[in-house]
Amino acid sequence: MLSILARTMAKTGMEKSCCLVKPVSVTRITGRYLAHQEGLPHLPVPPLQQTCQRFIMAMEPIVDKEELSHTKELIAEFQKPGGVGERLQRSLERRAQKTENWLSDWWLKTAYLDYRMPVVIHSSPGVVLPRMEFNDRQGQMRFAAKLIAGVLDFKAMIDNETVPVEYLGGKPLCMHQYYQILSSCRIPGLKQDTVVNHAQSSRPPTHITVVHNFQFFVLDVYNSDGTPLTVDQLYGQLEKIWNSSLQTNKEPIGILTSQHRNTWGKAYNNLIKEKTNKDSVRAIQKSIFTVCLDAPMPRVSDEMYHSRAAVQMIHGGGSRWNSGNRWFDKTLQFVIGEDGSCGLIYEHAPAEGPPIVSLIDHVVEYTKTFEMIRTPMVPLPMPKKLRFNITPEVKKDIEKAKQNMNIMVHDLDVKVIVFSHFGKNVPKAHSMSPDAFIQMALQLSYYRMYKRCCATYESASLRMFKLGRTDTIRSASIDSANFVKAFDEPARQNTEKVALMEKAVKAHRAYTNMAIQGQAIDRHLLGLKLQAIEDLASMPEIFMDTSYAVALHYNLSTSQVPAKTDCVMCFGPVVPDGYGVCYNPMANHINFSVSAFNSCNETNAARMAKALEDALLDMQSLLEQTPKAKL
Ligand code: COA
Repeated sequence: MLSILARTMAKTGMEKSCCLVKPVSVTRITGRYLAHQEGLPHLPVPPLQQTCQRFIMAMEPIVDKEELSHTKELIAEFQKPGGVGERLQRSLERRAQKTENWLSDWWLKTAYLDYRMPVVIHSSPGVVLPRMEFNDRQGQMRFAAKLIAGVLDFKAMIDNETVPVEYLGGKPLCMHQYYQILSSCRIPGLKQDTVVNHAQSSRPPTHITVVHNFQFFVLDVYNSDGTPLTVDQLYGQLEKIWNSSLQTNKEPIGILTSQHRNTWGKAYNNLIKEKTNKDSVRAIQKSIFTVCLDAPMPRVSDEMYHSRAAVQMIHGGGSRWNSGNRWFDKTLQFVIGEDGSCGLIYEHAPAEGPPIVSLIDHVVEYTKTFEMIRTPMVPLPMPKKLRFNITPEVKKDIEKAKQNMNIMVHDLDVKVIVFSHFGKNVPKAHSMSPDAFIQMALQLSYYRMYKRCCATYESASLRMFKLGRTDTIRSASIDSANFVKAFDEPARQNTEKVALMEKAVKAHRAYTNMAIQGQAIDRHLLGLKLQAIEDLASMPEIFMDTSYAVALHYNLSTSQVPAKTDCVMCFGPVVPDGYGVCYNPMANHINFSVSAFNSCNETNAARMAKALEDALLDMQSLLEQTPKAKL
């Protein structure tokens, strides 16, 4: 039998993606999952005229009048009957007929595998979990053992194809990403990376990797009869690992994975020339996931704890701290510190945040319910330490990676806040979409700080469609601009401001609905552009226009990643003068992470976080001061 990916490719003629995702033959995935997948609709190609018209509307709040009128001319030319736009649209529609998803393969390449910036900060999100109640090495290992058992419990659902199907707006979602997050790893290339997934191989992995003091270990997590190790057994094995990795003077080999992808691709080829290194690297790549037992990080006040934990998850704190205690190419790495800090970092190519967070929800519940009972056990073999032969050249690459990592670490500014005044409850009470309300607060904060609107990205799920990933909700709209410009105007009546807020919130929710139904503009425009690269000798002018560049310069890159667990996902900005904002709206409070770069004088994560808190509170008090009857 072919693996699910190979099967998909064979069926759809997606031969090209063979070089991107290396499928391993033979699948254990059978009926239930495939039956569900087969029932999902295909991602549509939106009508050309609709996208062109919506693109112009999206540009209005973020480009000046002259640019806009020039863009309108280019768009008119692009979409005219018999023009280049129609030609590309037809090609795209043909592609959509031939493939299971016209976008997914292109998106994987464009957004991830061809993207050459380091995955650290620039691509891989971290997740900060609530601080756990331990403060010593025993607590750390006990928690790690429970966490591993919890992930294996979730893995059983993946293996049995019993992960509950998710729904959005009453529609079932594509579950493909769940099958990509375990036993997979990104592999660097000189110009393009690949992702390897061993979950469906004929001999799927039975081990995880554990890293402590920069030293990697293979830990077999199944007994010979196929049952997962118990928490007791896992604890015992982790203790052995800990005791045999006490030295702290080891080379942080894992830091190599934090480099620029071309640099790492070159260093990787050099590293795996040695058989010992190659075997060790393969063991990490093949493992189900990684557990990073972190050394203590600098102590900070309780108020600063979440922000410090966020950087621990995103980059590990630099070469002095835990950045070498990672393999950043690994899809899933759980991070557990001695001080109760806990979270994860994941490599973004195979999946978005929601499947990762739903795994976390399961694991956190598991760790809460499980009571550890110590029972005598048959001794298990010592987990195997992975050896690396550090040649002078590898040593040089490690030194360069350390330097680069420390520069990146100094440049990242992260502020995590718990907005405790209200959560989804307040917008809901005012019959507003909580997500749209938060997005409008972000628009207001940005406008108050910079006196202008900026291109804003919010991820929208395309998982209603087979193999769907994301599209963009453009939160800066004509309506949001009208709202933010009026908000602090003393001459405007409160009733008018509320009406503008409601209009802006509704417009955002309408854009969201359009995006999740596959009718947003950004992936369609990307598709037309990539189609132009395949079909045409020259690039259509609209893709070289200033407006298009402004449209893609996301000063605000945002995402909602809701979870049952009181956690927050965090990621870096996507442009040098931008912010990365992620939030988890709970019933009565909202967790936010805000990031910026210190090298940019105009941005400041703490200032933006404060502006956001103020905007949310001001919007609430406006609503409360303006009784409905007066509207
Ligand atoms: N009045 C009262 N309640 C409302 C409302 C209104 N006008 N509009 C929405 N609500 C309710 C909803 O019913 C929902 O209720 P629940 O808490 O019981 O589930 C809740 O408010 C949340 O809805 P909303 O805030 O509108 O957002 P959403 O849950 O529909 O999510 C997106 C919006 C864009 C985040 C979602 O569609 C999406 O695409 N998520 C994926 C994002 C992603 O992939 N991120 C990862 C990137 S790595």
